[in-house]
Amino acid sequence: MAKNKLNVLVVFYSMSGNVAKLAKAVADGARSVRDTDVRTRQVDEIVPKDKWNDAMKKVKEELRDIPIATMDDLAWADGIAFGTPTRYGNMSAQMKEYIDQTGGLWLKGALENKVAGVFTSTSTQHGGQETTIITSMVPLFHLGMIVVGIPYSEQRLFAIDPVTGGSPYGASSVSGPMADRAPTANDLEIAKTLGRRIAEISRKITGK
Ligand SMILES: Cc1cc2nc3c(=O)[nH]c(=O)nc-3n(C[C@H](O)[C@H](O)[C@H](O)COP(=O)(O)O)c2cc1C
Repeated sequence: MAKNKLNVLVVFYSMSGNVAKLAKAVADGARSVRDTDVRTRQVDEIVPKDKWNDAMKKVKEELRDIPIATMDDLAWADGIAFGTPTRYGNMSAQMKEYIDQTGGLWLKGALENKVAGVFTSTSTQHGGQETTIITSMVPLFHLGMIVVGIPYSEQRLFAIDPVTGGSPYGASSVSGPMADRAPTANDLEIAKTLGRRIAEISRKITGK
């Protein structure tokens, strides 16, 4: 193992699978940076099992091998990508519940100067991707993290057809009214760019 291995955590919540697909692309992007260890984790579910519908059960099954995120994963990471579906223009309660466990880390300043980025998915094109990403950044600033987006040197941000996600604030996808429109190739490439960028900036910050 390289001496100065960089650690990147991709932590997400996904109910119908779209954010999970973006998470995989973000992780691939981070992994493409040399000597980078990537952990992919999902946050714990708070919807009681007896309320899961068939679509949700199917996704839970697909994601069953992805470990549940802990506070140790945050402490381990040099850079962190947070992925959440949009819920009325904000992050999901599941992701909020995870972030709300960081009090102990906050007290110690343990997350200060770690690099962070955010990705999301909405059903509708103008349904709040940007508000979700920006409001998700607010607690990250409290934690002292160095929050990054995606600059327009990523030319795929200019794409408009087919309908595309991705913005200067972070990676995203539009899943349609039934949440069954998977992230497009453009969305996935932008997500990779976010992962790569988090890793590259983390390397600069840590000097690893
Ligand atoms: C309670 C609730 C609130 C939602 N709020 C929004 C919203 O504000 N805007 C939007 O376009 N989609 C909204 N959606 C749809 C999801 O954000 C969308 O289907 C997303 O792609 C799901 O991601 P996932 O497949 O990773 O679970 C909402 C869904 C639920 C269940």
